[in-house]
Amino acid sequence: MSAVVIIGAQWGDEGKGKIVDIYTESADVVVRFAGGPNAGHTLVVGDQKIIVRLVPSGILRPTSRCVMAQGMVIDPGVLVEEIDALEARGYATSGRLFVSDLAHLILPYHRLIDGLREAAADAGTKIGTTKRGIGPCYEDKAARRGIRVGDLADLAGLEQKLVRASAAWAPVVRGLGGEMPEVGAMMAELGALAPRLLPLVADTSALVDEAVKAGKRVLFEGAQGTLLDLDHGTYPFVTSSSAIAGGACVGAGVGPTRIKRVLGITKGYATRVGEGPFPTELRDELGERLRVAGGEFGSVTGRPRRTGWIDLPALRYVARVNGLDGLAVTKLDVLSGLSEIQVCVAYETPEGRTTEFPVRHLGSAKPIYESHPGWSESLSSARTLEDLPAAARAYLRYLEETIGVPVFLASVGPRREETIALRDAFG
Ligand code: IMP
Repeated sequence: MSAVVIIGAQWGDEGKGKIVDIYTESADVVVRFAGGPNAGHTLVVGDQKIIVRLVPSGILRPTSRCVMAQGMVIDPGVLVEEIDALEARGYATSGRLFVSDLAHLILPYHRLIDGLREAAADAGTKIGTTKRGIGPCYEDKAARRGIRVGDLADLAGLEQKLVRASAAWAPVVRGLGGEMPEVGAMMAELGALAPRLLPLVADTSALVDEAVKAGKRVLFEGAQGTLLDLDHGTYPFVTSSSAIAGGACVGAGVGPTRIKRVLGITKGYATRVGEGPFPTELRDELGERLRVAGGEFGSVTGRPRRTGWIDLPALRYVARVNGLDGLAVTKLDVLSGLSEIQVCVAYETPEGRTTEFPVRHLGSAKPIYESHPGWSESLSSARTLEDLPAAARAYLRYLEETIGVPVFLASVGPRREETIALRDAFG
C-alpha cells in the first residue's frame, strides 16, 4: 500500500503546495478531496510562480494523474480558466485530469450569498471567508438540493434543479438586499461550460481504488488546515468541509484501511487569515516582520495574514485528530535573524494550566511561552540537517520531541531545491 495523505496542521497556508509538489515527483496519482477555490496552492518552478486553486498540485509533473474527488466543491468557470492557464504555460491536462461526477458545483448565487452575508455580518459574527461561495455550496449539498458535475450531462434536468435551488435561496438573497441571478443566464453559462467539463468526468473513487490496489503511489492533497476543519477546527470560524486526514477517505471514497501514512505540514511559526481566535498572534512589529519576511499575504484574496508563534498544544491536538505519522516544517528560513523564538507550550485557562489545546474555550485561554535561541544565518542554501546552524537544528529536534511526531522534511525557501529531505513519504 502506498497511499499517503498530506494535510495542513494549522489554519491553512502552511505551504502544502510546495510539499505536495516535491512528493508528487514520485507519485502516480494526486487527489484533491475537499474544499474548492478557497485554496491557493503556490508552486515555484524555476522563476515561475504558479498558483493552483482547484486542480491538484501534481499537474506540474507530467507523469502524475490528477483527481478532483467528490468531496470537493467546483466552480466550473474557475476550473476552465485554471486549465486554460496551465495549458498556456505548457502543462498538459488532457487525459491526466479527472473530475468526479459527484462533486458539487459552485454557482453564481453561492458566491453572491457568501459575499452578502460577510458584508452584513457584525464584528462578532464575521467569518472572513474567501467569498468564493464555499459555505453556501456545502449547505446545498447537506440540504440535498445541490447541483453536481454529472448534472451537466442533462441540461433539462439541471434547469429544474436550478429552479428549485433558486426558489429556496431567493428569500435569503432578498433579505440580504441582493438580487437572485436569472436562471436563464446561469443556464447559458453552464451550457457553454459543460462541453469543457464533461470529458473530464470519471468515477474517481474507482480510479483511486484501482491505483491503490495496483500498488501505485497515491497522494491525497489536503486543502485548508485542521484548525479550519468543520468538526475539529475553531468553530464557527472554520471552512465548511473536512480538512483533516479522515476527510480524504470521505471525500475521495477510499477506505481508511487503504491509507499508509499521514503527514502534517506546519510552518516554523503560525499564521491565520480571516477572523477567529489565534492565541499566539503577534500584533506588533515582530508580527509585521514575519508577515513581510514570509510574504504572508493570501494567495487567493491577497489579504494580509495574521502572524504569530508556533503553538505546541495545538500541534499535539492536530497530531491526534489526524493520527500524524510525520511532519513537514516549512518556512524555517523566515525565522532567521530573530535573537529568540517563542513557543507556546501550555495554556492558562479559567480551570487552571493545561498542556492540552483548549479548542472549545480558546477565547478565554492565555498562551504560556518558552523561549528558544534564534539564529542569524540565512538557511536558504541548507540541504542537509548538518548545513543548518545548531540553533535551527535544535529547534527542529525540539518540535519533533514535544509534538511526538518525526520531521520528514524541512523547507528553507519557496523553490523545490530549497528543501531538507529527511525521510521518504512513501518509503
Ligand atoms: P471559506 O472557506 O471561504 O468559507 O472561509 C472560511 C474560513 O477559512 C476563513 O477564515 C478563510 O480565511 C479560511 N480559509 C479558507 N480557505 C483557506 C485556505 O486555503 N487557506 C487559509 N485560510 C482559508
